[in-house]
Amino acid sequence: MKPTTDFLTRLLSVYWFAPPVALWRAVELRTAAEETYPPPLLDLGCGDGLVARVLFDDRPVDVGMDPWMAQVRQAARSGAYRWVQQANGVQLPYPDGAFATAFSNSVLEHIPDVRPVLREVGRVLRPTDGRFIFTIPSDLFRRLLYFYQQRLASGDREGAERYAAEVDARLEHHHYYTPQEWAGLLAEGGMALEKARYYIPRPVEQLWDRENAQFGIGHRSLWSLLASPRLRRAGYQRLLARWVVRRYSRLWRPHYELDVAPGEPGGGLLIVGRREAGRQ
Ligand SMILES: C[S@@+](CC[C@H](N)C(=O)[O-])C[C@H]1O[C@@H](n2cnc3c(N)ncnc32)[C@H](O)[C@@H]1O
Repeated sequence: MKPTTDFLTRLLSVYWFAPPVALWRAVELRTAAEETYPPPLLDLGCGDGLVARVLFDDRPVDVGMDPWMAQVRQAARSGAYRWVQQANGVQLPYPDGAFATAFSNSVLEHIPDVRPVLREVGRVLRPTDGRFIFTIPSDLFRRLLYFYQQRLASGDREGAERYAAEVDARLEHHHYYTPQEWAGLLAEGGMALEKARYYIPRPVEQLWDRENAQFGIGHRSLWSLLASPRLRRAGYQRLLARWVVRRYSRLWRPHYELDVAPGEPGGGLLIVGRREAGRQ
């Protein structure tokens, strides 16, 4: 797939109420858009379907699934899927070899034990050439946080670890595996690691961390009050959304376009696993 979409502008329009989320996801989708997604395609942990709509440019994905019913309902309304259902990744309600591709965006880090999910994905992928493409925060995610580094630079290692633990708790992240560790986990699901690629270069993660604090994302703040879903009917939110898109699609463009240099770390990791024939 060729990334021709301006993901930054599209995601700022979608996530105007949380602009740093739009920045992270825009870089994420720009990276994911470089892969190909032969059908039948499964979106595991599809959430509300907004990401699939933007990534696949409004072409419906064959199947979306998520255990969270409110998200499944929204995904069904989003028009992103031909078929959406409530299910858990540990027990996928699909026959062996049903999909050529499984995709999962920002899901596995929220599942404490990913092994049963990877076994299920391996089972439902086509045995000869099925691929699992997923994004997660990388093994370097904590170390690249702006406020982690700031505390470390002032000699406060404990404070740095405390800060990273707070971020883990707020975002409900359970683990950060290295590409080598993902290779081992994929092997348990009958898949081989085909690609591991870091995205979200250091300056982008640092900006993201600072802007989360600035906007008060995850806390009480003037911004979270103004952007509150309870006030969605208030007319000013449309103006606020327009202001966010106009301002940040210009201001954050250089960060959006920044790639991780070869050999450099990044806060996000895109993994491609390929189903190995005769395994499992
Ligand atoms: C951060 S959201 C990402 C949603 C969507 N993929 C996106 O990029 O917008 C994480 C999603 O993972 C789902 N999830 C959590 N545990 C799961 C499991 N065991 N199997 C499948 N999905 C799961 C959650 O319900 C949630 O919708």
